[in-house]
Amino acid sequence: MKLAIGCDHGGFDLKEEIVDFLRQAGHEVLDLGCKSHESVDYPHFAELVCQAVLTRQSEAGILICGTGIGMSMAANRHQGIRAALCHETYTARKSREHNDANVLCLGARVLGGGVAMEIVKVWVETEFAGGRHLRRIEMF
Ligand code: RB5
Repeated sequence: MKLAIGCDHGGFDLKEEIVDFLRQAGHEVLDLGCKSHESVDYPHFAELVCQAVLTRQSEAGILICGTGIGMSMAANRHQGIRAALCHETYTARKSREHNDANVLCLGARVLGGGVAMEIVKVWVETEFAGGRHLRRIEMF
């Protein structure tokens, strides 16, 4: 799968871990930054990742900030982006099956690395179920 990934300073360490994890699993990762712990503004990176998804440069996106909240708010302002903020694997799976989420948001200050990696794994491996769920996502 081709994924775009972005973070702010609060999500930088986890983003680096996720990039390695995804590449080792055979995914193609477009790393749109940030590239250090220097303080940056998360809406800028949300914009970069959402544009990559909307222009089909990538099939899906991952956004990481301290809580995941700012990234999910910024991402969901884009028509066509369905961003899901997930703290465990159940909602990660359902966000793909039922909501066809095309952006996963994570809170690096909320999650441990092990849980985060399980969420990412489930999210990239789960397909949209379609059917009645397609009708519902077409309503917004
Ligand atoms: C940055 O300190 C922090 O506000 C940001 O990473 C994020 O949690 C915002 O929602």
